[in-house]
Amino acid sequence: MLSVNSRKLAVAMVALAAAQICFAQFRQPAKPKGPWMDKSLSPDARANLVMKEMTLDEKIQLVHGAGMAGFCAGADPSLVRSNGGAGFVPGIPRLGLPDLNMADSAVGVGRGARMGRYSTALPSALALASSWDMGLARDYGALIGRELADQGYNVSLGGGVDITREPRNGRNFEYLGEDPILAGNMVAGWIQGVQSQGVIGDIKHYAVNDQETGRFFANAIIDKRALRETDLLAFEIGVKKGKPDMVMCSYNLINGDWACENDYTLNQVLKKEWGFQGWVISDWFGTHSTVKAANAGLDQEQPSGRYFSGELKKAIENGQVPMARLDEMVHRILRTEFASGIVDTPQPTEVPDVFRGFQVAQRAAEESIVLLKNENHQLPLSAASLKSIAIVGGHADAGVLSGGGSAQVDPAGGSAVTETNGGNDLRAFLSRIVFHRSSPLEAIRTAAPSARVTFDPGTNPASAAAVAKSADVAVVFVLQHTHEGADVESLALPDAQDALVEQVAAANPHTIVVIESGGSVLTPWAGRAAAVLEAWYPGIRGGQAIANVLFGKVNPSAKLAVTFPASDSELPHAAIPGPPGKKPGPLDGLQNATPPFPVRYDEGLKVGYKWFDAEKKTPAFPFGFGLSYTTFGYSKLQVAGAASLKVSFAVQNTGKRAGQEIAQVYLSFPASAGEPPKRLIGWQKIALKPGESRTVSLTIDPLYLSIFDPATNRWKVVPGEYRVMAGPSSAALPLSSNVKLDGGV
Ligand code: BGC
Repeated sequence: MLSVNSRKLAVAMVALAAAQICFAQFRQPAKPKGPWMDKSLSPDARANLVMKEMTLDEKIQLVHGAGMAGFCAGADPSLVRSNGGAGFVPGIPRLGLPDLNMADSAVGVGRGARMGRYSTALPSALALASSWDMGLARDYGALIGRELADQGYNVSLGGGVDITREPRNGRNFEYLGEDPILAGNMVAGWIQGVQSQGVIGDIKHYAVNDQETGRFFANAIIDKRALRETDLLAFEIGVKKGKPDMVMCSYNLINGDWACENDYTLNQVLKKEWGFQGWVISDWFGTHSTVKAANAGLDQEQPSGRYFSGELKKAIENGQVPMARLDEMVHRILRTEFASGIVDTPQPTEVPDVFRGFQVAQRAAEESIVLLKNENHQLPLSAASLKSIAIVGGHADAGVLSGGGSAQVDPAGGSAVTETNGGNDLRAFLSRIVFHRSSPLEAIRTAAPSARVTFDPGTNPASAAAVAKSADVAVVFVLQHTHEGADVESLALPDAQDALVEQVAAANPHTIVVIESGGSVLTPWAGRAAAVLEAWYPGIRGGQAIANVLFGKVNPSAKLAVTFPASDSELPHAAIPGPPGKKPGPLDGLQNATPPFPVRYDEGLKVGYKWFDAEKKTPAFPFGFGLSYTTFGYSKLQVAGAASLKVSFAVQNTGKRAGQEIAQVYLSFPASAGEPPKRLIGWQKIALKPGESRTVSLTIDPLYLSIFDPATNRWKVVPGEYRVMAGPSSAALPLSSNVKLDGGV
């Protein structure tokens, strides 16, 4: 018999042993003690040290993915460790090198949430661009970085910065608009934010992936100068200012070479000229060869190792790919792993902070809603005096629309409107129509508690008009759904929504139209509407943001980052080019058996507003345009040139409400430069109280004054007389002054 004390002791010892066994399971494996774990060394030195310990097989293991959990499970046994994101690269535990868990994260964490985890659905990237606010881009990126880490991801697949050369591109909502200088700066802010959270960041899709139609086979033909001054300039600014850890090469070909085996764009420009130190990752299944791709600068194949595992090993062994090149690939990956902190300080996983996410999402939506028209001060609405409001269409009773594809953030609680494109294959996944549960109707009811707020689904224009007629004001919601893998055939709103707006506006002169779209749309009814708001895909707090703008709690300040044409026929290409023998238009971006077909970007430098300016076409709403509930005056332009360019001017709030203005500066080049009529070179967003005036002072980056000279392969400033213009939009520039630049910039 044991004494009571011995029994207590035995129980305590069993409990202790059990606790030890239990805690042992959670104990992190001891970190290796090798010299590369010395944090005081540079990331490059640490990468060199650890590489000395690595076998050829271990090096090969790092330069390709192990498959996609859920799609090709079983491809590699290590995949069981994957966190369920779009990509996974197993680490090397004996050397303390972590697994790379990658998740799509263009507008919030994507596929992680698809596995049933919550993440914040932010407004679209194009919405963010409409804020022209790099600080907001940092906050937006930081939220994504935080939520990636929360969910156990250490690599982001986001930061799309293909410029809006083709307004019908189904992925424009994931990108940052048509101007390379604005887009480049915004993606730089975005990437700084993501990487501030200790996760590896990425910008994509490099480059000229400007349409989805036939995206795996589209051969973008574009002259070198135009390439450098348009699509590549956005990446150049993003890479130099944002210092992304990874760059994802795109599916298409660029001037005859696949983007993921393009020596010019990868080796010569990105790595050599821009000094990019991170690694180049292929878009998913965008690798087409072993030897050519490896030697042209691709560092990691995704999502699997068709070309960069066994085949690469053979190519190394038979000398077709030098060992030094494999070492460079591995070095780039490892130096980035050390520099980002994922080796030394893996981020803790948490339940995402929903409330912080709401704040960032709502602020981003409020800063991105563009007021396109406001006749007779129709807006803001007065909650006190309105007795009745008719809300029409757009599923505004349920939620707000989002863009589809890999950028889709899963809706909390499921889509607010039953999904129409169900199914499990990739095609169905890309084209899902998902609404986030942020109902504009509810938010409007909350904002105007004493008004009678009715809802009509808008499916029958005549009955919607009858409902609208009896109300003080009508708010019509119209939708354009866009997604990865397809373009839209026309910028016209689908499903007879134009007729709906026309009929409601005819019935009620106080009709306000709210657009939720992936990019620019045609607005043939704008003349009849009293007010028009572009809300993009506004994210999980979209309903509240829209209501706050409608009722003046928020004074709109956003400006268009894309031109709104008056018709499709004004665009550089009558229709989107597709493979020969197929009807041009929104062909399936996923088809497989097609040989490359040319997409000739003959408009060259004339992208977006530059096309409209050069061709003397008047758009419906110009680039940089957006109204406020107050007014601003511009004066006192001063320009100092010679070897650099400094611009200053005063902006005054001449109205009765506090507001923010995005003041813009454009430059006209001397004729000898051969540029389109004007180029955005600077902007500043300023908050002004009624009557307040402030001076905007900008020193312009010499790159923004330069043209690319293909003969010398360099940027240069053409000496001559320039015209500097400042004002509220590309089409309203009340201040201007000439200045001589001497080319020494
Ligand atoms: C998309 C990328 C995405 C990848 C992984 C590709 O189809 O083009 O943007 O990051 O899939 O989901």
